[in-house]
Amino acid sequence: MLNKVIKQQLELLLQSGIKEVYPPVCQKGQRLDELAARYRNCQKCELAKGRTKLVYGEGNPDAFIMIIGEGPGASEDLSGRPFVGKAGELLTKMLAAIHLSREEVYIGNIVKCRPPSNRNPLPEERLACLPYLLEQISIIQPKLLLFMGLVAAQTLLQTSENMGELRKREHLFQNIPAFVTYHPAALLRNPNWKHGAWADLQKFEQRYYQLRDGS
Ligand code: URA
Ligand code: SF4
Repeated sequence: MLNKVIKQQLELLLQSGIKEVYPPVCQKGQRLDELAARYRNCQKCELAKGRTKLVYGEGNPDAFIMIIGEGPGASEDLSGRPFVGKAGELLTKMLAAIHLSREEVYIGNIVKCRPPSNRNPLPEERLACLPYLLEQISIIQPKLLLFMGLVAAQTLLQTSENMGELRKREHLFQNIPAFVTYHPAALLRNPNWKHGAWADLQKFEQRYYQLRDGS
């Protein structure tokens, strides 16, 4: 019965020229779960060798905001969840400071497997893994992005500009407004940068309300 109603509605949409129907919100989560399961044993780059668990990403499948980090560290590699170690604790606090919970945003990374000794992911590793992140973005369709650290920012914005330059202005990634701030791990090593990070977060929060409420 329900199927018949849905079929009729789809036919109406088709007749009126609408050829693509996006899945309802609940299906986004299912799709992300399916993809995470599909890639679990990915061997597309060298990082597969040292991996315990692939860290696909987590959060609200219909998030307005997507947070993008660099790649898993030791705790993430063991648990399969992004940003759960010391840097993750700080990220959670940074989000709370701008009245956001981890559950309402979506948290992902440039590479999904831990680089040995937490070195930066190599260009070929970033390139191999990027399609997975682009796929996540296309499913979630976030309206605002926050890049945590240089690796995320330089990879996605295809630039070699430094943190000082990148923090100064708003960027666009695939037409989505994007902000850059220090990686929480960098803030743990350099607490004197926290002041700047706080200023970045304030600007980010303001822009969030503006985009969300159209004010
Ligand atoms: N650092 C990152 O960039 N991502 C994580 O998931 C954890 C630490
Ligand atoms: Fe695959 Fe990405 Fe892991 Fe490389 S880092 S093995 S591309 S999931």
